[in-house]
Amino acid sequence: MDSKRSIVDIMGRRYSNRTYLKEKITRDHREIIQGFISGLKAGPLGSTARFTLITDSGEDQESLRELGTYGVIRNAAGFFAGAVKQSGHCFEDYGYLLEKIVIHATGMGLATCWLGGTFSKSGFARGISLAKDEVLPAVVATGYAAPKPGLVDSIMRFGAGSKYRKQWDSLFFSGDMTVPLSQSDVGPYAVPIEMVRRAPSAANKQPWRIVKEPGKNIFHFYMLRTKMYRDGGKMVGIQDLQRVDMGIAMYHFEASAAESKLGGSWTATNPGITTGTADCEYIVTWKGK
Ligand SMILES: Cc1cc2nc3c(=O)[nH]c(=O)nc-3n(C[C@H](O)[C@H](O)[C@H](O)COP(=O)(O)O)c2cc1C
Repeated sequence: MDSKRSIVDIMGRRYSNRTYLKEKITRDHREIIQGFISGLKAGPLGSTARFTLITDSGEDQESLRELGTYGVIRNAAGFFAGAVKQSGHCFEDYGYLLEKIVIHATGMGLATCWLGGTFSKSGFARGISLAKDEVLPAVVATGYAAPKPGLVDSIMRFGAGSKYRKQWDSLFFSGDMTVPLSQSDVGPYAVPIEMVRRAPSAANKQPWRIVKEPGKNIFHFYMLRTKMYRDGGKMVGIQDLQRVDMGIAMYHFEASAAESKLGGSWTATNPGITTGTADCEYIVTWKGK
């Protein structure tokens, strides 16, 4: 990653890119990213994870194509895939760590796209030799962006309303979930909060809800489950993607806070705030120093 470039700037430039140039990832980029990946061992909530960059071994991208993205991704030069040990917060930890890789790669000039639905799990599970006690919730396609998005890319972006983000007053609150968070109460955390809002999420559902304790730098993160994902139902596994979304948001919050010299730590102790709906679940708390 370009160390002179601000992380907030990189987060602002990241978007889901589905059409890539037919170019391999340069050896320099591969080495830097592999070094970075190998240093990631555990998420902020304690789950152990490992990641890899899968690139094509032959002259063409046939071997990658076999991994399968149901036609959504064109010409990916590689995929970031990982395996996380099953635990209470493994999906959040996976999201946090893989987004850390995404932002690092974006800073190097690589484009990315998270894939939680449109990828073939079995191919990637083989690629990373998934163990019985591990899960592989999602992968990320990567490579150099083509100058023009393909048709499928445009359709996916339009379908998910990718440009759109919910407004502050429906995502961020003060004290409980009835009072929107005002600019005066958010204090130095305006940027980290905004970086949560800019984060990618599965089908752009933006499940993150944050309640700040008035007058304190304490932020409780909640997940508002999208109804069609509730209880797994027929769409087993998809609700877990919203936990991955929560982990992605945690990384955006923590990394942009660190850039503003705002230290703190994560704890998962439910403050018992009334959420008004059973679909809204407590996930984690940021305690600022
Ligand atoms: C956990 C997760 C899973 C996703 N799964 C897919 C997917 O299967 N296929 C796809 O085309 N996009 C997928 N996306 C990309 C989202 O649609 C995208 O992030 C969202 O529409 C916001 O757009 P942006 O990333 O360009 O800001 C996924 C994103 C996340 C965070």
